[in-house]
Amino acid sequence: MDNSFVLKGNVCYNTTPQEVSCTANGYVVCVDGKSAGVFAELPEKYASLPLVDCGDQLIIPGMSDIHIHAPQYAFRGLGMDLELLDWLNTHTFPEEAHYADLEYAGRAYDIFANDVRRSATTRAVVFGTMHVEGTELLMDKLEQTGVVSYVGKVNMDRNGGENLEETTEASAADTRRWLADVEGKYERTMPIITPRFTPSVTDELMTQLADMAREHNLPVQSHLSENPSECGWVKELCPWSECYGDAYDHFGLLGNRTVMAHCIYSDDREVELLRASGTYVAHCPQSNAQLSSGIAPIRRYMDLGMNVGLGTDVAGGANLSMLRCMSDAVAVSKLRWRLVDDSLAALTTQEALWLATVGGGSFFGKVGSFEEGYEFDALVLDDSAIATPRDLDVWERVERYVYLAEEGGKIARKYVRGCEISLD
Ligand code: GUN
Ligand code: FE
Repeated sequence: MDNSFVLKGNVCYNTTPQEVSCTANGYVVCVDGKSAGVFAELPEKYASLPLVDCGDQLIIPGMSDIHIHAPQYAFRGLGMDLELLDWLNTHTFPEEAHYADLEYAGRAYDIFANDVRRSATTRAVVFGTMHVEGTELLMDKLEQTGVVSYVGKVNMDRNGGENLEETTEASAADTRRWLADVEGKYERTMPIITPRFTPSVTDELMTQLADMAREHNLPVQSHLSENPSECGWVKELCPWSECYGDAYDHFGLLGNRTVMAHCIYSDDREVELLRASGTYVAHCPQSNAQLSSGIAPIRRYMDLGMNVGLGTDVAGGANLSMLRCMSDAVAVSKLRWRLVDDSLAALTTQEALWLATVGGGSFFGKVGSFEEGYEFDALVLDDSAIATPRDLDVWERVERYVYLAEEGGKIARKYVRGCEISLD
């Protein structure tokens, strides 16, 4: 029963999007990889479990990055000077074309997987590239990190340029070959159907991908309403569609096992499609700023009870820090309130923590909370090097960590499904 133990420390997690529960010097109990709850005093029935004393450190749920591009990690922090469509053609597609070379892919994905392992991310929804072998290598490496992930072989049978385009037939056949290769191969790495976005995928391929998702009971990820030029292009490419979201919905690609990144320019009809289908919106605030895309109305989506989580969208976003992602989500929501629409209140830091933990985590099941029955994903945070003369309560310390992690904050321990992950 390696998977049963007690962590002692200062525990904090969301009970609602607006509220956190904090227990100073408390106990969070993991039984068989699942949380048995948080306690101020350790119940007698758990007294015989191994206890990890985290001292004065903070214990919070793990975080789910529900939109990230593994191959783009290689040029993170570079090429931040263009809007989406030019950025894809100038920086992104040429980089992704390199992943036909397995030696390059191996080096790049080693760096990515290592950094994910040491980050606050415990679960991720990941784009690979269109290459089957490279994507399988990425899955092998992510499996070894202990992080749980969905990984997609990307489909793109139009507008990829010379070196990053498949024929419709090859794309479908490669996807089926990839699914056969990886089925049942991993404990914590699962395939996800990944049409890049409507401009990259013909109607014929969308139809076949939707068939595969249904046949294999697989989730789906893509991009939606990120940039005005992209949205205009989709209208030309799919004149039959009632809105951009309809260009996915028409094929049966929306639903509560689908993640759509961005959703900045979704009109009322599109929002209703997303809401009614339970589609997840991956909010990627840093990417939306860096690519001058815009600011998604996340408050509106939360008020409508939609499924929403956070994504770093590397390399639209420069790094894979979910803490930075949280603080960016709060910051852009304030700019939106001030500059765009003061009827939508800014997000609070508590709400950003909810999005990073429960919001995105729910894509994986009961994930992102310490309430009884949730899978035990946890971060133990050491904030002792972030100096202050003040006496802070547990929430204030968590809040400060979100904004100041880079000032010497350290992830001391990390657990996924009750297994400790090496942070060396
Ligand atoms: N839309 C289609 N492909 C991409 C991508 O790689 N990144 C982002 N941010 N948007 C996209
Ligand atoms: Fe993206």
